[in-house]
Amino acid sequence: MSSPKTQEQLAQEKQLVAATAAGWVRDGMVLGLGTGSTAAPFIELLGQRVREEGLRIQATATSKASDELARRVGIPMVEPRRGLRFDLTVDGADELDTQLRLIKGGGGALLREKVIATASDYLLIVADSSKAVAQLGRFPLPLEVVPFALPWVMDAVAALGGAPIVRVNKLKPDELAQSDQGNLLVDCHFEAIADPQALAQQLQPIPGLVEHGLFLGLARAAVVVQGEAVQVLRPGLAAVAATTFADLP
Ligand code: A5P
Repeated sequence: MSSPKTQEQLAQEKQLVAATAAGWVRDGMVLGLGTGSTAAPFIELLGQRVREEGLRIQATATSKASDELARRVGIPMVEPRRGLRFDLTVDGADELDTQLRLIKGGGGALLREKVIATASDYLLIVADSSKAVAQLGRFPLPLEVVPFALPWVMDAVAALGGAPIVRVNKLKPDELAQSDQGNLLVDCHFEAIADPQALAQQLQPIPGLVEHGLFLGLARAAVVVQGEAVQVLRPGLAAVAATTFADLP
């Protein structure tokens, strides 16, 4: 068995997959910009293409942090409006399985991420090699929860077997973490999610649970590192080398 990658190696992988995805963006595209430590280098490299090559794109971000970064690097941004669709959204993931079912929300941006993913013709995931799993659930499933509803949502999730922990603000440990909408975040420790679809259906109707981090049937492809190679995964298909991939819209 190979030894786990170091943080430095994983950071290099994030840079590699981000650069691969940034190279696939074409003139005229309307883009969704993801959130997190893999989406961030993608946004930076895209900004570089806008500034240096005159790449003409427009984008909307999945978080305030990514919006600020995108504006700082020179990407023209569009506000949400009716009828707005995205040709391509590039986002990270906390876990992905071979069917490209995802757990997202480790960065707290799951609601806006799901809104943008759903309004996208093509969701492309960029992920380092630590994210690919045989079964979802080791990474605690994030929920966005309206503060008033917190105790009852925690009861409901505990009854489903996912030990819930309210997320704390990493920078101010005596405060709770808040989403960009001012809601709370709850991390649910399931350890293994045997049937993600069934769990999603059980979570959906819980009042006050605004969104959960299971992204099912949304990702069309994922750029990952396997061994030394940058590969593209698609649901249920064999991996192909990123250099031969030509499936984007
Ligand atoms: C943000 O809420 C998340 O969904 C991120 O996309 C996810 O946590 C992946 O982040 P990293 O690329 O930082 O691992």
